[in-house]
Formats: sequence, C-alpha cells, structure tokens
Amino acid sequence: MQKEISFSKLTKEDKINWITSTYFSNPDEAKRVLKQYWNNEEALQKLHDEFIENTLTNYYLPLGVAPNFSINGKNYTLPMAIEESSVVAAASKAAKFWNARGGFKATVLGTEKIGQVHFIYKGDKSKLQNYFNFIKPALFSDTANITKNMQKRGGGIKSLTLVDKTAELENYYQIHATFETKDSMGANFINSCLEQFAKTFKSNATAYSPFSPLESDILIVMSILSNFVPDCVVRAEVSCPVSELNEDKNISPELFAEKFVTAVKIAEIEPYRAVTHNKGIMNGVDAVVLATGNDFRAVEAGVHAYASKNGTYSSLSHAKIENGIFTFWLDIPLALGTVGGLTSLHPLVKFSLEMLGNPSAEELMKIVAVAGLAQNFAALRSLTTSGIQQGHMKMHLNNILNQHQATKEEKEKVMAYFADQTVSHNLVVDYLERLRASK
Ligand code: MEV
Repeated sequence: MQKEISFSKLTKEDKINWITSTYFSNPDEAKRVLKQYWNNEEALQKLHDEFIENTLTNYYLPLGVAPNFSINGKNYTLPMAIEESSVVAAASKAAKFWNARGGFKATVLGTEKIGQVHFIYKGDKSKLQNYFNFIKPALFSDTANITKNMQKRGGGIKSLTLVDKTAELENYYQIHATFETKDSMGANFINSCLEQFAKTFKSNATAYSPFSPLESDILIVMSILSNFVPDCVVRAEVSCPVSELNEDKNISPELFAEKFVTAVKIAEIEPYRAVTHNKGIMNGVDAVVLATGNDFRAVEAGVHAYASKNGTYSSLSHAKIENGIFTFWLDIPLALGTVGGLTSLHPLVKFSLEMLGNPSAEELMKIVAVAGLAQNFAALRSLTTSGIQQGHMKMHLNNILNQHQATKEEKEKVMAYFADQTVSHNLVVDYLERLRASK
C-alpha cells in the first residue's frame, strides 16, 4: 500500500509546498504559476478558497458579454463565461441578426423538478400500495418544516407516487416525487424532503400491522433528486419571412433556408451529427449557466438525456419553412436558480445577474435557451454557407501573427493575402518572412 498523506489537514502553504516539491522539477516556478492567480484582496481570495476543498489557486475563465439580445421584446446583454474563441462573437452576431427581424421569443413550458427514494421491498405488492396510501399524509406532514418557506414562495411538493420497478430489477420500488422550487434550483430542498420521506417511510413500516416481519423490513437504497427534468422545459424561437434571410450575397435566401432546414433535419435523424449540433447549442447554454453561477454539470446531464428521450440521440432544435416563413426553435430542459447556491456569494455571479436585471428562474431559463438557439443559428449559418474554418482560421492566423510579433502593418498585409488562401502555420510564416526580407 502507498503511504498516504493527510493532505486536507495541511495549511494552504504546506499543500502548495507538498504538491510543488512532489510533482515538479522546478518547485519555485510551479509555485509562481499558482500564486500569480491569487487575488490581492484577502477576503475575496478566502471566499474562493472556501468554495471547495484543498484550494491552491484560482482557475480563470474569461467573462465576456454578448449585447443586442431582444427576448420577448426586452433588451438584454448576456454574460458568457467560456474559453472557446468565436462563441461570444457568434452569439453577438446572431443577436444583431435577429434583433432586426423581430427578436427572440421564449416560453417556459414547465417547471417541474423530480426526486426519488429508491428502495427494496420483499413482499406482497398490494400491501405495499396500501401502506403507501396510508403513510402518504405523514410523508407530507413530516416534511412540513422543510416545505414551509418554499410553500410561502408558491412552491413545494407537487405529487408523490409509488412506482413498481420489479420487472426491471427484483424487489425494486420507488417513491417518485415531483416538486416546484420557484426561483431556486432546488437541489438542497428536494434532497432534504427525500431523505425525510425515506425516514418516515422506513420507520413507520415496522409498526404497520398488515406487514409480515420480512415485509416491514424495507431497505432504503438511496434518496436523491433526478437531473433528468423532461417537464422543466423552455422553448426559444425565431422566425421571419424567408425573403428576409438575405445577409449573404453568395447564396439566395431561399437556398440558405433550404440548406439550413436540411442541416437541422440531419441532426434530428443522425446521432453523430446531433451530438456536435447540440454541442454548439451547449456553447451558448453553458457559458450563461456558468456566468450566472448555475450547475452546468446538472444542465449538461439533463439536456443530453432529454435529447435521447425517444430512444435515439437527436437534435434539440428544429426548423421549418411554411408559407414562406422560416421558423427555428429549441426545446431544452433547464433546472436553474437565481437564488441560493453561488448566486449571492460569487461577486461575478451577482454582477451577471444584475446585468440581466435580476431575473426570476423562469426568466433565466428563457435567456439561457435563447443563448443556445443563437449559438446554434450562428454555427449552422457558417456551416451551410462559408464553412466553419473561415472564421476559425482567421483567429488562427491572428494567433500565428501574434506569436511572431507581427506589426499592425504586417498583419494587414498578411490578412489581405490570406483572405482567399488556405492558412497553415508554415505558409503564414513563409509569407511573413518574405514580407520582412523585401523591406
Ligand atoms: C464548435 O464548438 C461547435 C460547432 O461544431 C457546432 C456545430 O457543428 O453545429 C461549430
């Protein structure tokens, strides 16, 4: 067995010393890398240190903004925390494009959250159903302390059902619970309710006289919310006459609309394409989810489960042309919160939420869905016209030029030369050297 270290008990300085001396050939340089990201403001650094365990430093992501979003007639600038170049620019471009064509519309289709108590019961099924009916009022009353505040805000437990899963796994049942959690994402609320259901359910079984001793011995396996939220869904949509899709001189609006709709249909029926198509949607979704302090892992897990809800992984967005009108829309499950969690702790999350006008959770669902739709529109527009590499290669070209300390004048000349040429590192460097030699 390897010798273990009680790492969590070390001070922050000692943790850094141990890590840098154990894994790095140049511990001082490794320490410098870590410490350059420390915040000078002690209280702010302490706040970040305490979000998680064993913190060594901060990991920066850029926080950018995409302005000019019109959503249901209201103007927004979206905060986006993301490392991938082109995403913020693409969102901003799509926002401007649709701003001139009626803006984005968004509707919340449902806000129901789900949690389950998973248990094993070995006995007569009808007795279990009778016990569930008998104990159900106690499941509500024993959670009254937990649900009191949520009820005041208009939320709480919506339904409790006993589910028989024995056909799939021997003796396996669930208490399936649905919740309304208003402006909070609700994970703590849901999990507290579920753990109380489990206690009440198990402890009262012992004294339930119709049960035999074996039947009363219910085994609670676990109690946990589900991140699959197919009834917590928002729709974002854009539409305009096909004739108004006239931005690109190289393609007619009719052909553009036809290619665009076909590209979406391909993502609806072809999983390899659907995954990449939805990844593009998540570029927008995750960036706003992260900037507003929400749990992007929960969102990701739920979204991809939703994308496969019909048995095959498929596109989250859809498009059609009907009577000369182009319509493009996205249905996406989003369990988000604008209170609780990081929302009142992280200064940049507070900043992002204030910039959005301190939205309700439902309003944030609409904003995030629109970010996803905008991103998907921008990606499909490039893919079906100029291709994705043109924009990417421009960024790449810029990076190469910066790497070789190109002056502004050199940059302009190289950019002009490569406007209709294939970009590669060698070709750019060759051209730059020739340019410099000719001086
Ligand atoms: C890249 O991050 C996202 C895209 O691949 C999305 C798509 O293909 O639709 C461009």
